[in-house]
Amino acid sequence: MPTVTSSMQGKICMVTGANSGIGKATALALAQMDATVVMVCRDRARGEEARSEITTTSGNNAVDLLQADLSSQQSIRQLVEHIQHHYTHLHVLINNAGAAFPGRRRETVDGLETTFAVNYLAPFLLTNLLLDALKASAPARIVNVSSAAHKSGSIQLDDLQAEKRYRPMRTYPQAKLAVVLFTYELARRLQGTGVTANCLHPGFVATHFAQSDGGSAVRLLVKVIGSFGASPQEGAKTSIYLASSPEVEGVTGKYFVKSIPRRSAAISYDESLQRHLWEQSAKLVNV
Ligand SMILES: NC(=O)c1ccc[n+]([C@@H]2O[C@H](COP(=O)([O-])OP(=O)(O)OC[C@H]3O[C@@H](n4cnc5c(N)ncnc54)[C@H](OP(=O)(O)O)[C@@H]3O)[C@@H](O)[C@H]2O)c1
Repeated sequence: MPTVTSSMQGKICMVTGANSGIGKATALALAQMDATVVMVCRDRARGEEARSEITTTSGNNAVDLLQADLSSQQSIRQLVEHIQHHYTHLHVLINNAGAAFPGRRRETVDGLETTFAVNYLAPFLLTNLLLDALKASAPARIVNVSSAAHKSGSIQLDDLQAEKRYRPMRTYPQAKLAVVLFTYELARRLQGTGVTANCLHPGFVATHFAQSDGGSAVRLLVKVIGSFGASPQEGAKTSIYLASSPEVEGVTGKYFVKSIPRRSAAISYDESLQRHLWEQSAKLVNV
């Protein structure tokens, strides 16, 4: 496996979903490399607990905690306003937060299907609102955590919100496929700016993922991953590599597994689909 760099001193790195699992392991590793780490968490108490553990373990006090519920567009916009006022630069954005809600169809406060909103529309909106900050900090990197599950996904452009037909086991793969399509379109749009965009599958990792929200099939899958899955530290390696390694300086528009570029699902390379999805997403989040 490719190596990881040892110093991120002077770099400001934001990690969403940083209180738990892969995101927490990613935030810790970046703190250990002396980066300034901005943890984005939805629950202040859980976030504080993780932040305290990270500062103690890393010996790095430059670890900030920002609270945001990524299922709410207003919360995302408030988060971005805070960042614009309090940070001079943003060198790395890791869109890691994710969740699966495989039971009944649920809607966010914005009236959007929740799995699609949290896993895909949130990174889409957050990234778009932070693009100027990232460009002004170039070289900068955007790292989107997708999943191998994207390979069983398809994009229903005429029913992104699954209003006509809700298939619980399809929403998460669709959202993670959308993350890959978004990453490729974003990388193309960012050509020449010094900002790269890549996505990844972290492996099957024993975390809190979908532990409380799944139906019986999902709970069984989560139990199996819990028994045989990799550690969060192992699962974070590709995110850390893409955020920090000089080996991927300038590399953009790729899907990584175990820190190696791999082919994503054939449909994810469809540029027309990438463009159409971007246009529809922009309308859904008003950017
Ligand atoms: N674990 C795996 O095997 C696996 C495989 C492929 C891809 N992934 C992806 O890896 C990423 C990290 O997942 P994980 O396995 O580390 O799971 P995890 O331990 O459940 O961590 C998910 C993180 O996302 C946060 N989050 C969820 N909904 C949020 C919201 N509305 N607003 C803000 N934060 C929110 C969670 O916060 P709370 O603690 O407050 O819930 C938590 O910090 C996800 O994108 C997931 O899809 C995981």
